[in-house]
Amino acid sequence: MEYTALTSAQFLQLRDFICSKLGLFFEDSRTSFLQKRIEKRMRILKVDSPGDYLLLLRFQDVDGREMQALANLITTNETYMFREFSQLRAFSDFALPEVLMAKQTRGDRNLRIWSAGCSSGEEPYTLAIILRELLSNVNDWNIEITATDIDQNVLSRVNEAVYDQRSVREVPDEYFDRHFTREGSFSRVRPETAALVKTRHLNLHDRMALRTMRNLDFIFCRNVLIYFSAETRKTVVDYFYTALNPGGFIFLGHSESVGRISTAFKLVRLGDHLSYKR
Ligand SMILES: C[S@@+](CC[C@H](N)C(=O)[O-])C[C@H]1O[C@@H](n2cnc3c(N)ncnc32)[C@H](O)[C@@H]1O
Repeated sequence: MEYTALTSAQFLQLRDFICSKLGLFFEDSRTSFLQKRIEKRMRILKVDSPGDYLLLLRFQDVDGREMQALANLITTNETYMFREFSQLRAFSDFALPEVLMAKQTRGDRNLRIWSAGCSSGEEPYTLAIILRELLSNVNDWNIEITATDIDQNVLSRVNEAVYDQRSVREVPDEYFDRHFTREGSFSRVRPETAALVKTRHLNLHDRMALRTMRNLDFIFCRNVLIYFSAETRKTVVDYFYTALNPGGFIFLGHSESVGRISTAFKLVRLGDHLSYKR
């Protein structure tokens, strides 16, 4: 079935409504992207026009199920293991030893990491691999890597922990066999590494949900804020400050800076990398 195109007024309504629920901001140039995504939903729901779909989304979606179904279709999930290697090196060579040392001195054996906007899990599993590689006494630590995303489809993929060649192409050879088993052309994360990662569905634009994330030593929120409106970006980063333990670090994508957003963090140099610390 051919659907009529969203009018510019409908596009604006849709964009504003999505932004109010998910924090995601779509430029005018993404009109046809959104059109195609809502057409998928319209086909399933047997809704004939973009106008009717908008009414349904805005006024009949009492439990938020339709917005969730749409969210699953409109998020950008691009990711791979060991993405932004130099930043991970800053984490493993400088930030992690500093935090572990401080904890050891206090007799604190808990390490809590949040991968916020984890997509299909490549980022949290990368962190799990790094921790298992670096900590000689990993079993003496109570490690929790919480992997959260709004997209339910990617969270199922984190739980499956099976990856194609593209996802694992940057995993250093010396780590591969210790952390993966081969299944044909796929690679499965070994259970002892996978056990460090727990998934949770969480909308970063939902203040109540954000408040459940506390006492974190590290927050990785890489390549997520770029999709948000400036206002949501600010709210989320401000919350990260509250969620971090004193001395904790936040790692954003290389094109994202908290400097403009929040002056509460200390900007610190970790080798040749800049990071933010509470
Ligand atoms: C490009 S991926 C980044 C994956 C990983 N952090 C990395 O850097 O490789 C962005 C992820 O952010 C998630 N996301 C977008 N909006 C979100 C929201 N409001 N709450 C939680 N996650 C969101 C998307 O579903 C997507 O999986």
